[in-house]
Amino acid sequence: MDLEKKGNILNICCIGAGYVGGPTMAVIAKNCKNVKVTVVDVSRERIDAWNDINLQNLPIFEPQLKEIISSCRGKNLFFSTEVSKAISNADIIFICVNTPTKERGLGAGKASNLKWIELCAKQIANFSVGHTLVVEKSTVPVKTAQVLKTILNCNNNNLNNSKKSFSILSNPEFLSEGNAIEDLENPDRILIGGEDENSINLLSSIYENWVDKSKIIKTNLWSSELSKLTANAFLAQRISSINSISALCEKTGADIEQVVEAVGSDKRIGNSFLKPGPGFGGSCFKKDILNLVYLCEFFGLEEVAEYWNSVLKINEWQQDRISKILIEKLFNTLSGKKIAILGFAFKANTNDIRESPAINICNQLINEGAFLKIHDPKVKKEQIEKELKLNNIKENESIDDRNLIDFHNWNIYKSVFDCINGSDCILILTEWEEYKNIEWNDFIECENNTWIFDARLLLDKKKFENSKFNYWKLGS
Ligand code: UDX
Ligand code: ADP
Repeated sequence: MDLEKKGNILNICCIGAGYVGGPTMAVIAKNCKNVKVTVVDVSRERIDAWNDINLQNLPIFEPQLKEIISSCRGKNLFFSTEVSKAISNADIIFICVNTPTKERGLGAGKASNLKWIELCAKQIANFSVGHTLVVEKSTVPVKTAQVLKTILNCNNNNLNNSKKSFSILSNPEFLSEGNAIEDLENPDRILIGGEDENSINLLSSIYENWVDKSKIIKTNLWSSELSKLTANAFLAQRISSINSISALCEKTGADIEQVVEAVGSDKRIGNSFLKPGPGFGGSCFKKDILNLVYLCEFFGLEEVAEYWNSVLKINEWQQDRISKILIEKLFNTLSGKKIAILGFAFKANTNDIRESPAINICNQLINEGAFLKIHDPKVKKEQIEKELKLNNIKENESIDDRNLIDFHNWNIYKSVFDCINGSDCILILTEWEEYKNIEWNDFIECENNTWIFDARLLLDKKKFENSKFNYWKLGS
């Protein structure tokens, strides 16, 4: 390590206290007692939530996260809105800001919007002191490091009259939400891309506190950036592949679970990421594939672009397909019907709803005139409000007042029982564990032949053989 530290201990600053920055820095702080980690964010609300004394209102939900925050916060892990101060003190800066798909301008709908990355780079250029390692952790389009480098070198305004220099590294994060802590504690690999060996080794030495050296892969910058996009595209491609086969199973009498077992037990294929469902969601897969498509088109690789785009097309098709099946089984009309939606998060064990298949599916059902009774153990009403087209009913209004249905089209329920009881059909969209143990005989207010649509293959078909419910399972 040839970096001259700016204090007695190594100071890490992480810009962006979100789903990536929060858990990643918590795990670094836990495993590196000789490092001080400061996570900064422009959002005061987010930082206040991370600093919540009782740990009841952390901005994100992840199993085991609360325990780590509780043991490190205030010792070697800090959350702050003082971005410039944290930058000045930092030896290493992780950029963990959001990079959503561009909504307008060149590359709209495909390219990533790098405005937050750019802003970070300018802040780093202005406020850093001495030599700083800048680590790109957010998933970014290939060659973003080049953008960073240019901005850092051009905007080096020397506000604090110090001589500054930068090394840029790409260190993509592979954690999956809901399993973030486990993924961070026991990663399959750590990928570090860079140009200068000393910087790569310094970052590597941090991970070596808890990750075996053999798992640390060192590459050039561009290989690292492209590997992240490729890994996500491959994972998403497996999901679209199996979802496409789920439709064929429904037509032919094959059972998708049996097909998955038979196909996945081939060592060359493997059985992970072969779970059929309502389509993939989350902040990464769609954005990263769109990025890949944009990149291929930019370089004139039309066929390659089309190939990856088809993974996205199947994903949208799967969501539409589920809505259509439900509508058909309910005699092609949802007008005035109450549909229980079990789960709104894009997967279990997270409160994240970004790109959740529930958004499209629920909006389609609302368009058909349905009234949605939504349950999710971790998602808040305010999150759903932003995504569903029309307003929800007021807290104390009765959904049984049918006159209301024309004006209000969804509400959220704290209890699974209240959500399901009296509904005209039930649709399972997130694989929360608690839905596995529902006592289906208890729902006296559900009529005979009420449909349960299981888009997550969560329940056992046999349970419904002599019940009043009709049971539809994806892919069988
Ligand atoms: C993903 C990548 O897994 C992770 O490496 C990367 O860092 C970020 O993107 P994440 O989006 O958090 O992680 O969750 P993941 O477990 O990959 O699930 C993504 C979506 O695919 C979810 O909607 C999930 O329900 C769906 N999925 C996953 C399936 O439908 N079937 C599967 O077999 C696996
Ligand atoms: P991810 O899933 O990639 O972690 P999030 O949206 O959860 O994305 O988190 C990104 C965080 O980065 C947000 O809380 C946002 O306020 C913060 N952020 C974006 N730009 C800046 C910036 N220039 N300085 C500080 N924080 C930023």
